[in-house]
Amino acid sequence: MKMATTGTITRVCETPGCNSPARLQCPTCLKLGIQGSFFCSQDCFKGNWKSHKVIHKIAKGEGVDSKDDQDQRPVWPNYRFTGKLRPHAQSKRRTVPSHIPRPDYATHPEGIPLSEQKMKGSAQIRTLTEEEIEGMRVSCKLGREVLDEAAKVIGVGVTTDEVDRIVHEACVERECYPSPLNYYEFPSSCCTSVNEVICHGIPDLRPLQDGDICNVDITVYHRGYHGDLNETFLIGDVKPTAKKLVQVTWECLDKSIQIVKPGEKYREIGNVIQKHAQNNGFSVVRGYCGHGIHKLFHTAPSIPHYAKNKAVGVMKYGHSFTIEPMISEGNWRDELWPDRWTAVTVDGMLSAQFEHTLLVTDTGAEILTARRSNNGNPYFLDKL
Ligand code: MF3
Ligand code: CO
Ligand code: CO
Repeated sequence: MKMATTGTITRVCETPGCNSPARLQCPTCLKLGIQGSFFCSQDCFKGNWKSHKVIHKIAKGEGVDSKDDQDQRPVWPNYRFTGKLRPHAQSKRRTVPSHIPRPDYATHPEGIPLSEQKMKGSAQIRTLTEEEIEGMRVSCKLGREVLDEAAKVIGVGVTTDEVDRIVHEACVERECYPSPLNYYEFPSSCCTSVNEVICHGIPDLRPLQDGDICNVDITVYHRGYHGDLNETFLIGDVKPTAKKLVQVTWECLDKSIQIVKPGEKYREIGNVIQKHAQNNGFSVVRGYCGHGIHKLFHTAPSIPHYAKNKAVGVMKYGHSFTIEPMISEGNWRDELWPDRWTAVTVDGMLSAQFEHTLLVTDTGAEILTARRSNNGNPYFLDKL
């Protein structure tokens, strides 16, 4: 391969230990817009090719072998990060054994959930039959078990890719398809959202650091039903202000569940959440909502977490939906990384989230994804 030449020599060769002045640039990196990648000679470039070509895969979001992570290489030269977190390499796509039933988008070439799109625009909320309710109880219980497995391994030094591997295997062991996998081409089996990431973070080879907060969002599909939950975990020694954010976010979910009962308006949920967040000096993310969930992953009703929203619909026995408030330390606005998934705070400050899947009963809510130990309390409380 012929390399591009730059005029002035300001760089050193990328070959470890070479340190010669370098003005040859990798043509593939130039084409992909990757900065850096200078070599002193064709020989050094060729000698380095095996490890160098990994950066091309990282830039394209393709999976690499776990030993090949290239720490914080700038892969999006024109993107200004809002905070300190950087993307790392992702591992190769995981597969689900063919005997496990899967949703339509799992096999669609562009990950399109056609069954969801058929319902798009409809505000009609499905009332589940007793059989369907039982199906939701089972899938949500299994989703909870999968999150419990993630909770066992998450910690300082563990990569979010390793969490994803555990989640994937825990799903398969339970005859579940991990719902995120291939949903609109999402590349992984769960979402892991670190620090300023609001939601939909892609698991990667970055080891979690002491002081991080990390949300793990699990959805499983079992025998035709999705169950969806998430918790934010404290990684090692977390500063008090971050603990406070996580605590208040949990309280927002808890308080909003308390108003769930037949006859309540879906739009009231946001009033409860924003009041508590605001009283504690935090803000409510507006760009992502709770959702109806059963045979479809995301469907009516759409449930904003902010006050004075215009959500349509009244709760009724047999409705199943999520509440999943995302609460931020600073600005409520979100933006996307160029990977088109990772949603971050625009000011780079922290954001936390908790989620449950709920069923409206005759008198209130059944928390289908409740933790079956420690009184249903989230894991971060065990650590306080
Ligand atoms: N589990 C998320 C939710 O709470 C959705 C993840 S969709 C994915 O709605 F494609 F990002 F995985
Ligand atoms: Co959800
Ligand atoms: Co979720």
